[in-house]
Amino acid sequence: MKNIVLIGMMGCGKSTVGAILSKKLGVELIDTDALIEAREGRTIPWIFREWGEGYFRACEERVAGELAGKSGLVISCGGGLPLREGAIRPLHGSGTVFFLCRDPGVTYDSGVLGDRPLAQGRREAFVERFARREPVYRRWAHHVISDLPSPEAAADAILEVLKL
Ligand code: S3P
Repeated sequence: MKNIVLIGMMGCGKSTVGAILSKKLGVELIDTDALIEAREGRTIPWIFREWGEGYFRACEERVAGELAGKSGLVISCGGGLPLREGAIRPLHGSGTVFFLCRDPGVTYDSGVLGDRPLAQGRREAFVERFARREPVYRRWAHHVISDLPSPEAAADAILEVLKL
């Protein structure tokens, strides 16, 4: 199986959908944020605060390159990973990329964003960040999964596309 790569804005459900897919398919789920935290021995908020976003993006590019060299994985990408072509291009070549497109206002209002460093501002800032990123997500997506009613429904839609 080629990799299944999930991209999209913070809080859109990549990790949840990834976990469902990994369970249904019996394959490993890798979350790029969790991998970076394990490698660096620091949390993402700590890395952003102490070492800066540039350092974090370089970590993302490194793990993306590594994961692209593997197959048979479900990969849940940090929301900003596709902003760096050097990070997303190898993953794009390693599998099928799904953009989980969820209304950013709904995400913000649902209160799931927690301590994510780039989601500490106001609702409008989050919605504007999504608007700036959406073309990038669409550019790299092989398929767009839009506003489905539940993570289970999104996972089923992905399995349907892949005929798995
Ligand atoms: C980020 C998204 C986060 C994490 C970091 C930056 C972003 O991942 O990588 O806080 O720039 O959108 P999630 O999309 O898993 O929240």
